[in-house]
Amino acid sequence: MVHHEWSLSAGLCHSVPSFLYRVSLMMKPQVVFVLGGPGAGKGTQCSKIVENYNYTHLSAGDLLRAERAREGSEDGQLIANYIKEGKIVPVEITINLLKRAMEETMQKDEKKFRFLIDGFPRNEDNLQGWKKVMEGKADIKFVLFFDCSNEVCINRCLERGKSSGRTDDNRESLEKRIQTYLQSTRPIIELYEKEGKVRTIDASRSVDEVFAEVKAILEKEG
Ligand code: ADP
Ligand code: C5P
Ligand code: MG
Repeated sequence: MVHHEWSLSAGLCHSVPSFLYRVSLMMKPQVVFVLGGPGAGKGTQCSKIVENYNYTHLSAGDLLRAERAREGSEDGQLIANYIKEGKIVPVEITINLLKRAMEETMQKDEKKFRFLIDGFPRNEDNLQGWKKVMEGKADIKFVLFFDCSNEVCINRCLERGKSSGRTDDNRESLEKRIQTYLQSTRPIIELYEKEGKVRTIDASRSVDEVFAEVKAILEKEG
């Protein structure tokens, strides 16, 4: 598509459509879903992306933990139980948290319309909830998939558990989280794979090596 630069010297007839087109693109969230096993390094890499590119990082897990901790939350106890059991919280809760966070981000700064949505969609329920609430309201650019063996994932989470204070960074919860990942999340990644939307990264290497791959993908995708 040809874009005309918005300038006062350009005729109004030419500049208005392209200006509106740009505004509409700016307003529509551009989303990268970030998936991978527990401990694959999603959060770590998202932080590095935010340092280097114009993205806002929204972690579904972080949003759920914040909601769990919020005084007066009606869902706090349910979220706590699901997290400890490594189960996926019903999407009605998660999608509202994500939608609100996206809206708040864009209300504060209209230029912040690129989002890394980390740890979502993690199962069919998540996917359907996204479609119901967000389809047409946001564009999914692609899925960043941090691919890592279960063993490496478990060891990283156990190491993280020494200081994270997380109720699910223990062996018992981790076994359940890995099962949930294999049974519920992998099929979602495969669905996107069939659509040609998955960008797979070998996440077993060092943080910097993984980030070099991430950068190459982001620069190619634009
Ligand atoms: P996720 O968000 O996918 O669960 P995190 O980014 O929180 O994963 O990383 C899990 C743990 O592993 C953290 O303690 C983090 O410091 C560590 N970690 C992340 N990436 C790597 C890596 N490439 N190599 C070694 N350790 C890593
Ligand atoms: O991504 P993270 O490891 O922070 O997720 C922690 C937990 O939060 C998951 O194991 C799950 O219980 C819950 N979660 C969820 N739905 C999501 C993301 C996270 O229920 N989409
Ligand atoms: Mg994380």
